[in-house]
Amino acid sequence: MNDQDNIIYMDYHATTPLDPQVVEAMMPYLTTCFGNASSTAHVFGWKASDAVEKARRQVAGLINCSPEELIFTSGATESDNLAIKGIAYAYKHRGNHIITGTTEHHAVLDTCAVLENEGFKVTYLPVDEYGMIQPQQVENCITSQTILISLIYANNEIGTINPISEIGKIARKHGVFFHSDAVQAIGKIDSDVDRLGLDLMSLTAHKMYGPKGIGALYIRKRKPEILLDPMIHGGGQENRIRPGTLNVPGIVGFGEACELAKSLMVEEGKRVSILRDKLHHALFNRIDRIYLNGHPANRLAGNLNISFEFVESEALLAGLNNIALSAGSACTSGAVQASHVLLAMQLKEELAHTAVRFGLGRFTTEEEVDHVIDAVVKEVHRLRQLSPLYEGNLPNTG
Ligand SMILES: Cc1ncc(COP(=O)(O)O)c(C=O)c1O
Repeated sequence: MNDQDNIIYMDYHATTPLDPQVVEAMMPYLTTCFGNASSTAHVFGWKASDAVEKARRQVAGLINCSPEELIFTSGATESDNLAIKGIAYAYKHRGNHIITGTTEHHAVLDTCAVLENEGFKVTYLPVDEYGMIQPQQVENCITSQTILISLIYANNEIGTINPISEIGKIARKHGVFFHSDAVQAIGKIDSDVDRLGLDLMSLTAHKMYGPKGIGALYIRKRKPEILLDPMIHGGGQENRIRPGTLNVPGIVGFGEACELAKSLMVEEGKRVSILRDKLHHALFNRIDRIYLNGHPANRLAGNLNISFEFVESEALLAGLNNIALSAGSACTSGAVQASHVLLAMQLKEELAHTAVRFGLGRFTTEEEVDHVIDAVVKEVHRLRQLSPLYEGNLPNTG
């Protein structure tokens, strides 16, 4: 294992470090307050249950729902599964059609594929060159059989933000349930479920300075009240929708992370986007033949996804061994396959193989950005010197 002390972390879309304030809030629940939140007969259980309900209010406060509309899960993968399968099975008497997008996370795509095998029909909407869904296309696909639209709020690879509130109005007009995997957006941009017109929303704590293994699903209770089929069965926790002993320290950390995000969001967004823009402009000024992937304006403050033509991203990452970056989305980067998100945007396969995702966040400093700029410029130039394809290296035949 490499020593990570001198490595710059720039992979905030994969996961985030715990905020020290979150650690502090969790500590008692990892030590002395170890009760089971379902133990109603003694103080250990009461303390745990009080902490869970406080955290539920903190999470609800960030997305403007009522605490009863939140079910704690193990993370966004579970929330996406629960939302999509839960609606599909509970409302199959109404129809069998689901609409989603080609740039979704695998937690959504693979869940939809399972449902297709079971006889559901799924429409995978294409995106424009910036990776954005056009609301009109969503409306055009709705049929009398459509029961669910599931679209990502902000993409984990390219940071593009979908026009969720416009799509929300369309979903409402047609009486179709609307779910969003919002894990990359929550705590960074407005995630008010009413303004967005969402009926279901997936959240996870580890993308917003909270712990891993804890997430939530927002399930609308007010007009319309949604009743989901549970995916697992057992005790009565979480309204029987998600039974199992509650992860009290995780939930407490998640609540604290949400409260912190609510107070820091605006200032943090400004600071991070200034750093991201510095990185963006410096790389574009100092390196030729590079391309921005994702929307130039409607994207997350901490995201910068760039294709460095003639430089395989795996080679670039290997050369930048004191910077933690990602060549694709973290969940699929084990396999050297061009990213499905970049291909869906019609990026040429060769360019997709040269894409690097820079993810900046709460603890990124200007000094780190300056270091990354110099290191990337140097390494891209070095690798291009070795590339027979790069024009600068072609023999001068004139
Ligand atoms: C957009 C998106 N959805 C879902 C997930 C999965 O989240 P979790 O790790 O909480 O299961 C991720 C994490 O990579 C993500 O970026």
